[in-house]
Amino acid sequence: MGKNKLRKFTEIHTFPNVIQPDYRSDIKDFEYKGKWGCCFFENDNPIVLEIGCGKGEYTIGLAKEYPGKNFIGIDIKGDRIWHGAKNSIELGLKNTAFLRIQAEKIEQYFNENEVSEIWIPFPDPQPNKPRVKKRLTSPNFIERYKKILKPNSHIHLKTDNNTLFDYTLNVIKEHNHNIHKRSDNVHGDTENNLDPVVEKIQTYYEQMFTEEGAIIYYLKFSLNNS
Ligand SMILES: C[S@@+](CC[C@H](N)C(=O)[O-])C[C@H]1O[C@@H](n2cnc3c(N)ncnc32)[C@H](O)[C@@H]1O
Repeated sequence: MGKNKLRKFTEIHTFPNVIQPDYRSDIKDFEYKGKWGCCFFENDNPIVLEIGCGKGEYTIGLAKEYPGKNFIGIDIKGDRIWHGAKNSIELGLKNTAFLRIQAEKIEQYFNENEVSEIWIPFPDPQPNKPRVKKRLTSPNFIERYKKILKPNSHIHLKTDNNTLFDYTLNVIKEHNHNIHKRSDNVHGDTENNLDPVVEKIQTYYEQMFTEEGAIIYYLKFSLNNS
């Protein structure tokens, strides 16, 4: 491991806004499950997740935009989370946290109905067939989200990958979920009246793909209640 990565792994343990449970094991009684509001943020504001947050641009951007909500960035990679956590501390944001876990185990960390919204910016497209179920918008993951989301909550997806975009549209159609907003070109969209944060907040991957000339797709959807 490089010196820089090692420094980040050491430093991240001292950050008050990072929670790193033993994510390889099954956790039965995670201390903040059902208690994020009372016992971590010390308020009962809505809780919004950014899944696969990388450097946490949505967690931070939304936290600045909506001080009346709490934002939790989730990623498995500690050296990426380090960036978001460090920026948050420097910006004095009290409404952010970063949780280093595998999203596969998300129900071990949140109670039913504890979460009000989910953002999934630029998930890995997982192009190889055996890994399709690892896509963060696969039915497996959507079922997990359903268990922790309040009914009718919104899920937001941003991606440059048209295979992943079409795949997600199919999952939504097959499971009778509801699309509220769709853009096939976020940065050239004059028709769909997108929420300004969809265009304004740009992640590390988004900037990289946009510079390469990629088109950015966006979906806002909610899950069917049955
Ligand atoms: C392509 S990167 C995008 C990062 C960031 N959202 C952005 O747009 O810059 C995908 C991120 O998802 C994380 N990730 C992928 N699968 C995950 C999983 N099952 N659980 C937690 N994190 C995951 C990766 O570690 C990586 O940081």
